[in-house]
Amino acid sequence: MELDSTLAGWRRSHHLAKLNSSNLDHSVCLMGWVASRRDHGGLIFIDLRDREGVTQIVMDPSHSLAAHQLAEGVRSEYVLGVKGRVRARPDGMRNPHLPTGDIEVLVEELKILNRSLTPPFPIQDRIEAGEGLRLQFRYLDLRRNQVKNNILTRIEFVKQIRAALEEKAFLDIETPLLYKSTPEGAREFLLPSRIHAGKFYALPQSPQLFKQILMVSGFDRYYQIVKCFRDEDLRADRQPEFTQIDCEMSFVGQEEVLETFEAVAAKACQAVTNRSIETPFPRMSYQEAMEEYGNDKPDVRFGLKLQDITKLAHHTNFKVFQTAVDTGGIVNVIHVPGGASFTRKELDEMTDYIKPYGAKGLAWAKILSGSGVASWQSPIAKFVGDTVVDQINSKVQAKEGDILLFGAGDYSSTKASLGALRLYLGEKLKLFDPKELAFLWVVDFPLFERDERGRLVACHHPFTSPKPEDVHRLETEPDEVKAAAYDMVLNGHEIAGGSIRIHDPDLQKRLFQVIGLSDEEARAKFGFLLDALQYGAPPHGGIAFGLDRLVMILTGETSIRDVIPFPKTNKAACLMTESPGPVTPDELRDLHIRVQLPELKREDV
Ligand code: AMO
Ligand code: AMP
Repeated sequence: MELDSTLAGWRRSHHLAKLNSSNLDHSVCLMGWVASRRDHGGLIFIDLRDREGVTQIVMDPSHSLAAHQLAEGVRSEYVLGVKGRVRARPDGMRNPHLPTGDIEVLVEELKILNRSLTPPFPIQDRIEAGEGLRLQFRYLDLRRNQVKNNILTRIEFVKQIRAALEEKAFLDIETPLLYKSTPEGAREFLLPSRIHAGKFYALPQSPQLFKQILMVSGFDRYYQIVKCFRDEDLRADRQPEFTQIDCEMSFVGQEEVLETFEAVAAKACQAVTNRSIETPFPRMSYQEAMEEYGNDKPDVRFGLKLQDITKLAHHTNFKVFQTAVDTGGIVNVIHVPGGASFTRKELDEMTDYIKPYGAKGLAWAKILSGSGVASWQSPIAKFVGDTVVDQINSKVQAKEGDILLFGAGDYSSTKASLGALRLYLGEKLKLFDPKELAFLWVVDFPLFERDERGRLVACHHPFTSPKPEDVHRLETEPDEVKAAAYDMVLNGHEIAGGSIRIHDPDLQKRLFQVIGLSDEEARAKFGFLLDALQYGAPPHGGIAFGLDRLVMILTGETSIRDVIPFPKTNKAACLMTESPGPVTPDELRDLHIRVQLPELKREDV
């Protein structure tokens, strides 16, 4: 196979999606990859592909014997250059689905610019290959339309969001990646310093403190599209390194921040999806989200809300309900219209599904006709009794053919498990239009939560301002204090979070005291911010969007990895470059590091 890898004066005239009937008879020079090759007794057809699309080229031995002979040896993913003439495809051979479907290029000269091994999976829309193989050969995976189009959508979205922010006078400013600890609360990635033996940089979990400092400097309205790093357990919508659209503004209260960023988000999302997005976004309190949806990022595209029946459950003889009520817990129910058709197996699957969320079981009642105990087909009917069965039926407006699914236990695991079950049912019963974009602000978060040892910790981060009306009870009723914090939610994902910050150094000190951070600790960690707050910090607040998550939803993907050019696996590894990887003893010595490996567990061997 003759390879002629030099361009030697050849110059590409068109991208491969650009030619159409207006180019008939034009001489063109095209370059790209072999997407497919068909030998039709005499004529050879090749679909040549590049970033923009494909063009069909034809090798006819009666037109150019040399080109035809070369084309006989061409395989998938070879890189070709061709010179030829655009002609109309014969009637019946046109492809209305392709921009170039009316034409083909009759080849006069063909050049094989490079060969390719047979790819480990075909470069097609639907493939069988597992994600591991796709990530190992990501450069080939990125040639596939689905992944390529996701990346192109991401690029377009970034362009649109930049335009929307710059139109509102936001300034793009960089902040360092070699940094020290950040306040977002996840574990950090550390980098040993060679120059400062025994000291470490931390990669930022977000530019939070720098953007606040920029407000002190007077750079009102900052934004940055920036990598953030968090060493946390990974899920479908989490990566160890991810990208934020990080924003901050001065002299604003919560209302202005929400208005500004819902306008920005709506504009950019509308531009890439062509769907109209209404503002203002609906708002929901954290309290309502937890009560009715069981989590703080509700998917409001469908109903099946959690309903509280703790008071009614108190008057039953069902042990599980009684124990929950007696120990300060709750009993909630999800009413699923038409759910009486669930089989035993389906109910068992649901029970197993919610166990990891802390559920001890899932009691159920299928609704029959009639009243009292007789209206329930349920293992717990006789324990619940006529009166309460009727009360529950009427509270949730149960009808024949429906099912009630009950959770009982402590507040957090009951809400979490029924919240998860609700989402499971939404998918299973196809209760929403996957194309719908349901934006929502969740507001009125508590300022603090309790850690596993009962200590107060900041819910968002410790620079978040309490609501002004709650400042007076910071020390006396910390659990009741609400934060000037907000999350933007889209289809059940938290796509952005932010807050109004504390700009008064005294209030910042009080807050540190409440969470038990001593002056010395606060100084050691955030001394530079505390100092800066003393030099005329303006009132300020901001938000950060999770770019990857947002693009995942806009492209209809379910994994964040499908919208990141080079993602990490859920074990935080890059299969293509095999990172993380070992380093040499010399490198370690330079960094003053001695490695002590954990003892191998049996399953690791
Ligand atoms: P927060 O921690 O809420 O706020 O992060 C902002 C947004 O970033 C996205 N996100 C992630 N995306 C992918 N993988 C991850 N591991 C990951 N972690 C977070 C989410 C989230 O809403 N400094 C504050 C912002 C502020 O107060 O202005 C911050 O980082 O979509
Ligand atoms: P048991 O008394 O354990 O046989 O449980 C009777 C029914 O109650 C079964 O359907 C269990 O799945 C269900 N159940 C058990 N614990 C709980 C709980 N904490 N919340 C809701 N249902 C439960």
